[in-house]
Amino acid sequence: MPPLRIGMVGGGTIGGGVYELIMGRLKEERPYSPRSSSKHSKQSQVCRKRPLWITKVCVKDLSKPRSFHLDEEITTMTTNVDSILNDPNIDMVVEVMGGTGLAKKVVEEGLMKGKMVVTANKALLANHLESIQGLVNQIQEAQDKQLLQHQQEQQLYMYNMPLPVASCFGFEAAVCAGIPIIHTLQTCYAGDVIHQIQGICNGTTNYILEKMKNGASMEEALLETQDLGYAEEDPNEDIEGFDVRVKICLLAKLAFGLTVPVQDVPCRGITLLERIDFEYAKVLGCTIKLVGTAQRLHEAREWDGPLSVYVSPLMVPKDHVLARISSHGNAVAITSANMGTCSYLGPGAGRFPTANSVVADICRIADGQQGPAFPIEAPPHLELDLDYIAIF
Ligand code: NDP
Ligand code: HSE
Repeated sequence: MPPLRIGMVGGGTIGGGVYELIMGRLKEERPYSPRSSSKHSKQSQVCRKRPLWITKVCVKDLSKPRSFHLDEEITTMTTNVDSILNDPNIDMVVEVMGGTGLAKKVVEEGLMKGKMVVTANKALLANHLESIQGLVNQIQEAQDKQLLQHQQEQQLYMYNMPLPVASCFGFEAAVCAGIPIIHTLQTCYAGDVIHQIQGICNGTTNYILEKMKNGASMEEALLETQDLGYAEEDPNEDIEGFDVRVKICLLAKLAFGLTVPVQDVPCRGITLLERIDFEYAKVLGCTIKLVGTAQRLHEAREWDGPLSVYVSPLMVPKDHVLARISSHGNAVAITSANMGTCSYLGPGAGRFPTANSVVADICRIADGQQGPAFPIEAPPHLELDLDYIAIF
């Protein structure tokens, strides 16, 4: 099978990780064939069904040193996203640049030009999932029709069931990096009613709070998170809670079907916390965590009723699962009518955990697997109540 050619927009912390996982492994596992010096002898083993090649990487500054080893025989570097979007030889666009301006163009134009698209961009999706979803649905419907026509022409139409069209869009890395929370919400709760989602979904603040608990200052701990590749380019996004806010809005969309206007969500970060707060927490048998919450304010079996969404530091009892995650972890607790509370824990930021989720999406799509159903429709009487906030 010919390689799936990927154009990657972004070659920073996550892009570098994706490149290493796909192309680095390619070097380790299938070095140049001794029989042939042709490029086509290089085959990545990352994806089971189809070799993967990253043929272009787009960055802002070509002169910057890179944290990945560029395979110049296969990959060219560029600063022009159009050279990826307009390249008919590129099958898939991977957007790991961030932001909501150019990144939106990359994702939408990529899809419109018939390319598969994978993104790790939570800010983009929290604000534009609805329109991107519409676009993906249109494309899938058109592909469905084409496939059906092809099946009829070839007399492949069996059991009155069209073959499923492969998915063309993935965004697993957008929330909680390495924890497969998006896939879980899209697939495992289809027959359930989610009552509440609570998430420690910012690795930077979780790390900082753990350090502050042991006496470090916020500034010292923040520097460490920047070295770890956890913090946003503007770390205020982390410490003011804005990063958690976009993530909880995205989780709320997937869990409840409601589009939550990000800017309207009550949000408190960790900047006002003082040493005495950690001492009080200790006395109360609690630990302080920055938590994003989306919860129905009525009982779990109810489909309607107000939905509250907010971000705040909370006193979490030490024996609660959200209190027990490591300084490098994230956690999401989902309470639903059928399952009670299930918790999902794992690495929530950083190069390889995030790159792993991006690569998993790439492989799933390259393998031709069907995507999960896009966000559920909100029940007609579910409304937002953004006045409710459980404050610290
Ligand atoms: P970085 O800042 O490390 O990398 C961003 C990359 O995008 C850089 O290579 C930069 O180029 C490139 N870029 C920026 N602007 C442009 C532009 N105008 N044209 C072309 N290239 C551009 O960010 P991360 O890798 O940390 O994050 C990438 C995405 O992944 C974001 O959406 C982020 O929210 C998401 N994410 C990050 C996680 C993390 O732990 N870091 C976890 C989960 C998701 P140059 O290198 O030349 O500056
Ligand atoms: N700055 C983010 C965090 C990166 O610390 O969680 C992952 O989205």
